[in-house]
Amino acid sequence: MRFGMVGGGEGAFIGEIHRLVARMDNELQLVCGAFSRDHANCLRTGQALALSEDRLYASYTEMLQQEAALPAEQRMQFVVIVTPNHTHVPIAKAALKQGFHVLSDKPASLNLAEAKSLQQTIQETGLLYGLTHTYLGYPMVIQAKHMVADGAIGPLRRIMVEYPQGWLSSNEEAKGNKQASWRTDPEKSGIAGCLLDIGTHASTLLEYASGHRIKEVCADVTSFVPGRALDDDASILFRTDKGARGTLVASQICAGEENGLSIRLYGEEGSLEWRQMDPNSLILKKQDAPVSILRAGTDKAYLCDEARAACRTPAGHPEGYLEAFSNIYADFVRNAASWPEKTNGFERISINTGGRAMAFVEAAVANSQSGEKWTALMDVAE
Ligand SMILES: NC(=O)c1ccc[n+]([C@@H]2O[C@H](COP(=O)([O-])OP(=O)(O)OC[C@H]3O[C@@H](n4cnc5c(N)ncnc54)[C@H](O)[C@@H]3O)[C@@H](O)[C@H]2O)c1
Repeated sequence: MRFGMVGGGEGAFIGEIHRLVARMDNELQLVCGAFSRDHANCLRTGQALALSEDRLYASYTEMLQQEAALPAEQRMQFVVIVTPNHTHVPIAKAALKQGFHVLSDKPASLNLAEAKSLQQTIQETGLLYGLTHTYLGYPMVIQAKHMVADGAIGPLRRIMVEYPQGWLSSNEEAKGNKQASWRTDPEKSGIAGCLLDIGTHASTLLEYASGHRIKEVCADVTSFVPGRALDDDASILFRTDKGARGTLVASQICAGEENGLSIRLYGEEGSLEWRQMDPNSLILKKQDAPVSILRAGTDKAYLCDEARAACRTPAGHPEGYLEAFSNIYADFVRNAASWPEKTNGFERISINTGGRAMAFVEAAVANSQSGEKWTALMDVAE
């Protein structure tokens, strides 16, 4: 399939990762882009990618109009959005209304109301919208989900998820760090900073792996770095719809940390533990039994079919972030190819997942600012 990209110009972070993972399964071709609001940057980016100059556009609106006017066998078939948060919904809506499927990086929107209005546009246009919550594409996260659903550790009681980072421990936004400056600006980031940026990775991971939905939260959301306009640290207690309780910590001021996302799921009979920085291991602990470590790999017959299919090499050849990301791309491509019929992986990338993440962030921010002990999440239609 042919796709175009908005954002991801020279100097940007995640756009180049998207371009790398889009190549991994040899199913996709980048044909056009509005890579930056600075057209010279867009031209340099597109030239380095050997794209035809007449398909390097000055704006996303120009890209959508001109691509729509091309013959069907030439024009892009979907749009990838890798711009800062405040532009996700306007670009996604414009692309859907112009008749293109959309694959957007997270978060879906700036707030829950915006996510709901996007949900409506998706329904009205009848097109595919996908969201890249990267960590849901790891084989051992898929395996954990399978084992929990299969009852391998019994009904869940406690879920502990944390995402500590250290890169915003000091005032990076004042030092001209481009990625830090929009993430700490309420107009560009949304109703939260750290919670939207990485708390949503933690909340989607816990809901995906457990099969539970966060029902209510008690949150302490704060900012440590003087002058910072949005949160950089959050500690949250939560209760789920199926009676589990847990804690979610998301922080960008844990000095020295890289991307320490981890999850522990405790059932009545045992527990599962997964760590993003050692992603090919899933630790299984049963009461009164030796600890087992399940490993990723195409040759691991004990993995569920879906987890094994998400691996690309036999065990021991490290796979990681890029492969997990490309599994999310594969979900999107599979669903775009069969659209409007939904196939495996649809729910993982759907706007419902993004909408619930926004409901979680909104409830946590509201709870932290109020005197309430618990705040219920708003319902998100599925
Ligand atoms: N899935 C993940 O693991 C993951 C990781 C990092 C970032 N992200 C998300 O990706 C998005 C981008 O983050 P980033 O760190 O790459 O940001 P960035 O600042 O590095 O890059 C943003 C790019 O968008 C361009 N841009 C901004 N407005 C534009 C417009 N109107 N038209 C065209 N281009 C425009 C900028 O010029 C820049 O090239 C964010 O929403 C972030 O939350 C997701």
